[in-house]
Amino acid sequence: MSISENLYKHAKQRIPAGTQLLSKRPEMFAPNQWPNYAAKAVGCEVWDLDGNHYYDMTTNGIGACLLGYSDPDINKAVIDRITNGCMSSLNPPEEVYLADKLCEIHPWAENVRFARTGGEIAAIAVRIARATTGRDVVAICGYHGWSDWYLAANLGDSKGLDGVHLPGLQPAGVPRGLKGTSLTFNYGDKEAFDKIIAEYGDRLACVIMEPCRNNMPPEGWLEYIRDEVHRVGGLLIFDEITIGWRLNFGGSHLQFGVNPDMALFAKAMGNGHPIAAVIGTKEAMDGAHTSFISSTYWTEGVGPTAALATIEKMEKTKVWEYVANIGNTVKKDWADAAARHGVEITTPGFPCLAHFGFKENGLEMKTLFTVLMLKQGFMANTGMYPTLAHNEEVLKIHREALDKVFAEMAAIVKKGGKEAVIEAIGGPVCQTGFARLID
Ligand SMILES: Cc1ncc(COP(=O)(O)O)c(C=O)c1O
Repeated sequence: MSISENLYKHAKQRIPAGTQLLSKRPEMFAPNQWPNYAAKAVGCEVWDLDGNHYYDMTTNGIGACLLGYSDPDINKAVIDRITNGCMSSLNPPEEVYLADKLCEIHPWAENVRFARTGGEIAAIAVRIARATTGRDVVAICGYHGWSDWYLAANLGDSKGLDGVHLPGLQPAGVPRGLKGTSLTFNYGDKEAFDKIIAEYGDRLACVIMEPCRNNMPPEGWLEYIRDEVHRVGGLLIFDEITIGWRLNFGGSHLQFGVNPDMALFAKAMGNGHPIAAVIGTKEAMDGAHTSFISSTYWTEGVGPTAALATIEKMEKTKVWEYVANIGNTVKKDWADAAARHGVEITTPGFPCLAHFGFKENGLEMKTLFTVLMLKQGFMANTGMYPTLAHNEEVLKIHREALDKVFAEMAAIVKKGGKEAVIEAIGGPVCQTGFARLID
């Protein structure tokens, strides 16, 4: 057994769930075959504990590293900060510079609070919205982290977990008293949204939603939500944690011309260093003055330093244009290779969050694809978040690998259909993630 596999086996005994993030569980890719642990990650290259080398054609740090791993400019800024001490009894000045920068990029915003992870900042924003409005009910569309306020949406009527709105996310441990405080609607489902407004409008603290995920918003959708939420006295929070900085510079809402009352950033803003921000109007963030929101490590200096350097580099390189080009090329390479060998796939959505889907036997084919791509030296599945570190040189070898892998997959399917695919995987089929409220 490989060192990586051995360590993961041990981890599952020591660390409940094996890892700290659902999306990094090896079972989500190719159980017993995925490299599991990175000894080193630079650019779009990863070395595992067994000394194997891979190009990363997955989400590149679950969307955290838009500039690529271990970017030298971000490293320099962070190392300088560390050398000068990244923690002391005083505050880091970088948090003020970063707050100013975020408000300069989003001129509608006047106030900023920081945390270190996406789930934390979403919880802070919801707390602020509840404190500002004096109301409890939250309407949700999208994924916003692991906190009680969010999982409360999954509290069903019975003690069993019936009535799950976000399939796959269990609300075990969430107080049942929170039932009815978080309500969900699917992206673009005006009827479901209207129902929430009609029934809970006078108790609605906020709507929290991703302004978009993989596709442009339907015409008038975001404006409609904003106007309705405001009509009933609630606040609108846009979660830009994944789409922010990738589609354009700053929040995607800048492109759509719809300003929320608060917006959230994390992930790509620190390029691998923990930093998260909620920006908002003074009025919306009034509750932040009265509510107790405070934590020691929200005052360290690496996060805001990394974010300042990352934002500067993202702007200088116009990274959103670069990754759109890379993503479009990868989508075309998937489609061309699949078509050449008669494998049916679809490649919908934004190139900055490029993905494809197998038309038949999705999970089995996805697992086989991952297993065969690993053998070609690529960490790959059906989703690829391009970075500044991916270039034509990497895409060329990737194209060659795709050609071989789709040829092999087509031959396996031809030989024995789904059963042959399962056999060729040589291990268990990957597990599904949770279903999102937004495509
Ligand atoms: C839109 C959105 N919000 C919130 C989160 C949670 O962020 P984190 O994993 O940093 O807690 C994620 C993570 O995938 C996300 O995509």
